[in-house]
This record gives sequence, C-alpha cells and structure tokens, in this order.
Amino acid sequence: MKAVRSRTRGGPETLRYEDAPEPRLGEGDALVRVHAAAITPTELTWNSTWTDVHGKDRRPIVPSFEVSGKVERVAPDVRDLAEGDTVYGLLNFWRDGAAAEYAAVRAADLAPKPRSLDHVQAAAVPLSGLTAWQALFDHARLSRGDRVLIHGAAGGVGSFAVQFAHWRGAEVIATASKRHDEFLTGLGADKVLDYSSVRFEEAVRDVDAVLDTVGGDTLERSWGVLREHGVLVTIAGDAPEDKAAKYGVRAASILVQPNRDQLIQIGRLVDAGTIRPIVASVFSLSNAREAFAQGLAGHNRGKIVLRVVA
Ligand SMILES: NC(=O)c1ccc[n+]([C@@H]2O[C@H](COP(=O)([O-])OP(=O)(O)OC[C@H]3O[C@@H](n4cnc5c(N)ncnc54)[C@H](OP(=O)(O)O)[C@@H]3O)[C@@H](O)[C@H]2O)c1
Repeated sequence: MKAVRSRTRGGPETLRYEDAPEPRLGEGDALVRVHAAAITPTELTWNSTWTDVHGKDRRPIVPSFEVSGKVERVAPDVRDLAEGDTVYGLLNFWRDGAAAEYAAVRAADLAPKPRSLDHVQAAAVPLSGLTAWQALFDHARLSRGDRVLIHGAAGGVGSFAVQFAHWRGAEVIATASKRHDEFLTGLGADKVLDYSSVRFEEAVRDVDAVLDTVGGDTLERSWGVLREHGVLVTIAGDAPEDKAAKYGVRAASILVQPNRDQLIQIGRLVDAGTIRPIVASVFSLSNAREAFAQGLAGHNRGKIVLRVVA
C-alpha cells in the first residue's frame, strides 16, 4: 500500500510518500480502508508519535490520528464491526496513524460515520470534536446558563467547542483573530475578542469556565478571569493544583481519549444539523508534507484533511 512515513524525528520535511507493508491486525483491531485522514499540525512534536506506549522507538511512523473509511476486515475476536461498515474514529496515539491507504485501528475506538458527512468532513471530527466534548462536558461540566471563555476559538478544537457550548445553552465568549469574528458568531459565539488588539482579562470577568487551546501567556492570564469555584481546562499546557488553589478554582490539563459513545453522540448532533465540522483545506495523501507545513504556518480555520480515496 501507499503510506506517508517518517524515519527521522523532525518536522514535515521528514515525511515521505512511499510503499509500505499493509498493517497487521492485533487482537481487537479492524483494518480500515482509509478514505480520508485529518492531521493535527503539532502532532510530529508529540513523543507518542515516535514511540509505543512503553517508550520504545517505533520508526518508521505513519502520522495522522483521525480516520474516516470502510472496514476491510476485522480480527477474529471483533464482534461489533464487520466488513463494509462505514466508520470514523480517533486512533491510539502510540500506534501508526491513518495517513495511508489502510490503517489498523482498535475496533472499540470506531463509530458509524455520520450519514450527512462525506469522508473528508467526517475525518475532521474525531480528535477536535472529542477534545472539545471531553473538555467542556466531562471536565468543566458546563451547564445551561454558564459563561465560558474559549481561547483559540477558530481552530480545530475551538470551532467545535464554540458550537458545543452554544448547544448546551452557555454564554460563549471567544478569543480569535479579528478576521474570524463573523465566522465565530455564526457558530454561536456571543462575543468575539480579537486577541491581537484586546487583552481578554481586561474585557471579561467572573466566567464559570475557561477552555484554553493556546497555552503559554494566554493560559497564565486566564486564571484571574474565573469566578470563585470556576474551572479552567487546558489542552495546551499545565494547570498546577497549587495555582488553582491560590485562585480558588478547579483546573485540569487533559489529553483527549478515544470514545465510541461520544462519537456516536457527536454524530447525531452533526446529522441533526446542530454541529458542523470545519475543514480548513484538503490535500492528497502524496502532499501530506505540504499539509503539515500549512498547518504549522498557523492561521487556519478548522482542520486540515488528507483525501486518500478520490
Ligand atoms: N491535549 C489534547 O488532548 C489535545 C487535543 C487536540 C489538540 N491539542 C493541542 O491543542 C492546540 C490547539 O489545537 P487545534 O487543533 O485547535 O489547533 P489549530 O487548529 O492550529 O488552532 C489554534 C488556534 O489558536 C489561535 N490562536 C493562536 N494564538 C492565539 C491567541 N493568543 N489567542 C487566541 N487564539 C489564538 C489560532 O488563530 P490564528 O490562526 O488566528 O492565530 C488558531 O485558530 C495544539 O497545541 C494541539 O496540539 C491538544
């Protein structure tokens, strides 16, 4: 099969489009004919991209952890998926990804693809959708009427988070570049703050929750905008307990987990027209290097997707 692989720890320049062996199925796995795979621009900097779960080097690696495609066959112990099922899902970060014609995926991590989406759109959902869902609902426990501040709102995760928070009935304040203002209002943001001209901590106070997808200085400046007993969830930095205690808030630094049930719930919202994935651009598999380079250059709106089957 054709695959995108890297043998050298580094950036997009290390990626090669080449022949590779078809992945072998382990217990509980399904072999997916990949129709589309989405990338996270920063994934080549993650340790998990280069090692197995025990820290052992697993190069050459295949990137891209989000897939939409068709089940080709399943391991003998898999009962709940069958050849021909159309699926989407988030792959395990410590295994080869989906930038290939075939991917071996834990069957339990796959869910039926939302019917209203094509494969390119469906591939844009799992990682960002699950991250936003888990941050807002499992960790921040967002409720109707809460006020939430979402940093990086026009990005892959942020664009789902704005839609989920609006659907839940929260008041949504978003930070993003000025040019995303109308786009974010259209997704359900009640207020958009241009991060290049407004210091959000001077414009917002007493929010119930902050979802930080940016990290660094943005994360540091976020503690003071929470109300007492509010909650800060970051996906892009550390949220130390002593700092949370100092501000009288709860905090969590989270890593998204594959979750079939949540993908099914998100799929229902998509098929009902409540939520839509945002695709920033589409590249062919052979142009994966350019896809990563564009992602790392920043200023994208939503996800970058590799189309594997035309
Ligand atoms: N922990 C986890 O489970 C998990 C899961 C998914 C992603 N992540 C990480 O979370 C981060 C975001 O992921 P993503 O896929 O959403 O990235 P993305 O699609 O690149 O989006 C990032 C967004 O942040 C915006 N931004 C940059 N600086 C900002 C600032 N100072 N204030 C407000 N917005 C700012 C960018 O807007 P402009 O383009 O206008 O600058 C862009 O829209 C990445 O570091 C990724 O690795 C972690």
